[in-house]
Amino acid sequence: MKWGVYATGAIAQGFANDLKKVNGAVIVAAYARNEQKGRTFCEKYNIERYYNDEDAFFNDPEIEAVYVSTPHTLHAEVSIKALIAGKHVLCEKPFAMNANEAKRVIAVALEQKRFVMEALWTLFLPSIQKVFEWIQEDRIGEVKVIQANFGFSGNNDPQGRLLNPDLGGGALLDVGIYPVLMANVLAKSTPEYISAQASFTDTGVDGSTFIHFKYPNGIFALLAASIEVNLINDLVIYGEKGKIVVPLFWMADEATCYFEDKVEKFISDESSKSGYNYEAQALAVAVNAGLLQHDLVSHQFTIELMETLDRIRTEIGLVYKQDLQ
Ligand SMILES: NC(=O)c1ccc[n+]([C@@H]2O[C@H](COP(=O)([O-])OP(=O)(O)OC[C@H]3O[C@@H](n4cnc5c(N)ncnc54)[C@H](OP(=O)(O)O)[C@@H]3O)[C@@H](O)[C@H]2O)c1
Repeated sequence: MKWGVYATGAIAQGFANDLKKVNGAVIVAAYARNEQKGRTFCEKYNIERYYNDEDAFFNDPEIEAVYVSTPHTLHAEVSIKALIAGKHVLCEKPFAMNANEAKRVIAVALEQKRFVMEALWTLFLPSIQKVFEWIQEDRIGEVKVIQANFGFSGNNDPQGRLLNPDLGGGALLDVGIYPVLMANVLAKSTPEYISAQASFTDTGVDGSTFIHFKYPNGIFALLAASIEVNLINDLVIYGEKGKIVVPLFWMADEATCYFEDKVEKFISDESSKSGYNYEAQALAVAVNAGLLQHDLVSHQFTIELMETLDRIRTEIGLVYKQDLQ
């Protein structure tokens, strides 16, 4: 797969690094609004072409797939431009600012017959795949309760993307999406009941959000997200017969299953706390198979995830300008 990278910030660096592990994958071009940053990125990752003009980037015939790594507020707009230019798209999380935007992107992808996927890399990690396998094998019995936190003490720059509402700032969309997506995946549905509370920063976004879900199948989830405090960032899945614990679950490199007085620990071969290669590999396999979506992160999953995030935002009273359009 020949990739083009749109925006060359922090996560694009991680992606470019990990892409080296994917057979047949190469970044052929990158777009960045800042020429110096763009050129430095291209030199560092040995990328042939740098573009300062986004139309020229989208019209580069060699690019097959675009990786969108801008702040959240641009995800939908940039993905749509890439799809209309005939490229497949891997878009960073959250896929869009709300479910309406997400649906628009997916409609364009279907019209253009191009693959699009939200970059929910966590689901492709070997440790998380092992967790799904243990549940499938009935190690812990029926899942009853899911607990997950993602909280860290972020920077205090009011203009930066974490705190700035104009860049989609706030804990829920930046890190809360991970506990929420794991709960939806593990419960195999969306919540029938949601309650949530948040503390707000001076910039008007959620600094910390605490969430309680009840799913139609009776599963409960207790989730927390913060860009203010370092939480204990474990995913714990409680079943009738045991439990599974995954430390730092969004970038999991290990998982432990406690069942029938036994303990089984899985440690991933890669302990580097990265793994963007798995999602990139998954995209290539799906595109080569002629698919327009991946069954692990389907269009429906992404729309339902955005709808769940929208419902949480309604509960906590967090509105972005994209919601008013
Ligand atoms: N999957 C993961 O593990 C993971 C981890 C971190 C972040 N993310 C997601 O990735 C996205 C980017 O996060 P990040 O941490 O990489 O942020 P970042 O370091 O701030 O990078 C954002 C990039 O977008 C560019 N940009 C900003 N506004 C732009 C505009 N109007 N037009 C064109 N380019 C623009 C920035 O360019 P300048 O340098 O010129 O400002 C920068 O290159 C976020 O949506 C985040 O949720 C995912």
